[in-house]
Amino acid sequence: MKTEFFKIKTAFSFGFLAFTSSTLFAENIIATKVNSSFEGIETSNIIKDLKFTEISVYPQKTIVLNDKSVAEKNSQNISKIIKVSAIYNDSDIAFVIKWQDRTLSIQEGYKTDIYGDGFAVQFPKDYSDPKKLPYIGMGSENREVLVHLQKAVPNIYEPNGNGNVELQISRNNTNYFDEELKQFDQNVSNLARIDYQKSFVSAGFRSLTEIKDDSAKVDMNMVYNHNYGCWKGTLSRKLKDEYINLNSPSFPVAFAIWDGDKNNRGGTKLLSSWQTVTLDGKTGGEVLVSEINNIQTGNLENGKAQFKANCIACHIAGEMKSAMSFMAPDLTNIGGYASSAYIRESIIDPNAVIVPGYNRNAHKNFEWYQIVDGKRISTMPSFSWLDENITNDIVSYVQTLKTQIKEEKK
Ligand code: HEC
Repeated sequence: MKTEFFKIKTAFSFGFLAFTSSTLFAENIIATKVNSSFEGIETSNIIKDLKFTEISVYPQKTIVLNDKSVAEKNSQNISKIIKVSAIYNDSDIAFVIKWQDRTLSIQEGYKTDIYGDGFAVQFPKDYSDPKKLPYIGMGSENREVLVHLQKAVPNIYEPNGNGNVELQISRNNTNYFDEELKQFDQNVSNLARIDYQKSFVSAGFRSLTEIKDDSAKVDMNMVYNHNYGCWKGTLSRKLKDEYINLNSPSFPVAFAIWDGDKNNRGGTKLLSSWQTVTLDGKTGGEVLVSEINNIQTGNLENGKAQFKANCIACHIAGEMKSAMSFMAPDLTNIGGYASSAYIRESIIDPNAVIVPGYNRNAHKNFEWYQIVDGKRISTMPSFSWLDENITNDIVSYVQTLKTQIKEEKK
C-alpha cells in the first residue's frame, strides 16, 4: 500500500479500548510566500522547486449511475494520489497540481462522445465554522462552494471567430511566422481557456450558477507530460474577491480530477476531502487546521457492528448492502472525501446537509428527501439518541470506508 491519506501516528484502535479524543492530522498544505507575480506561472521558474503535499482523491460513489458502459468502466473503483503545492504573494495565490493519467484525453471541438481530462479547485464561500463546511464537491443549501474548473482542450484555433469548429485549423496549416505565429498561438490558448474554463457558485446539483463576468477571474492551465504520462495543472487567482476571502492564516480547499478516458459525463471524477492550506508566516489558523483534519479514533470493531445494525438497511458500503440499500447514498468511499465532523453531523442531524443529488422523479419510496413546507427533510432518521461512545465508534468506522490506492493500469 502506498501513502494513506492520514498520517497515522498511533494505532487506530487497541482491541476493545476505545479512544474518544482525536489527535491525528492529515497533512496541511503550506503556501510559501514569494515576491514575484504569477503571470505565466505554468512555465515559470518559481514553481520549479516547490515542495508538494500528497493528497488522495476518490471516485465519488455517492450516486449509482444508470449508464451501463460508464458503470463498467468505473467498476474498478481506484483512487489516486495527486500532488499539490501552493504559493502566494501580496495579492494572489497559486496552486500547482500534478497527477498521473496514462490515457491522455482531450475534448475535441464540440464532440459529445469524447471527454476531456480536467481538474477543479474549490473553496467554501464561508468557512468561519470549520465543523460546518459545505457538502463536498457540489456545495449544499446555505453552504455554497466556489468551483474553478478546467478541461483539457486541443490547440486548434477557429480562425473566423464565429464559433464554427468545422473550420478549425492547426498551427502547422497556417502560413504565419514569427510574431504572427505567436499571436496565433496566443489566440489559440485564449480561445481554449475561454471555452473550457468555468467558474461557478454551487449550492448543490441543479443549482450551479456560472460566473460569466470577470468577478471571479482565475488563470488556469493544463500541461501534459508525455514522458511521464502526467498532468500539471495550475491555477492562480486573487486572494480575495466578492466570493471568497483566502487572505487568512488558513482556509479549506478541495480538489477534483477527471479522467476523460472513463467515459462518464465529463469523465470520471475523483475527489479529495476538504484539505487545509496555511499561508506561511501567518499565525492563528491552527484551530481550523485541526478541526478539519481531525479523525475520530474509536473502537472499529464495535463501529462496524453498529453500522451493520443501524445503517445498512439504507446504505451500500462496499460489499455490505441489503435489499433496500440503494435508497440512500452509496457510502463505499465516504471516508475518502468526508471529514469526521461531516459524518458525525450526518448521523446526529441528517437535515443539516441534505445530499443534493437524487432524481426527484424517483419512486416515492426511494426519495432521499421530502419537501415539507418548502423545506427539504431527509428520509434518514436522526441517530442523536445513540450513546456518545457508540456514535464515536460509528464515525471512526465510517471514516475507514474508502478504496485503497492502486497503481493505475494502462
Ligand atoms: C432510513 C434510511 C437510512 C438509514 C437507516 C440511515 N441513513 Fe444515512 N442517509 C439516508 C439518506 C436518504 C441520505 C441522503 C439524504 C441526506 O443527506 O440526509 C443519507 C445520508 C447519509 C450520509 C451523507 C452521505 C453523503 O454522501 O454525503 C451519511 C454519512 C450517512 N447517511 C450515514 C449514515 C449512518 C452512519 C447511518 C447509521 C447510523 C445511516 N446513515 C442510517 C438514509 C438512511
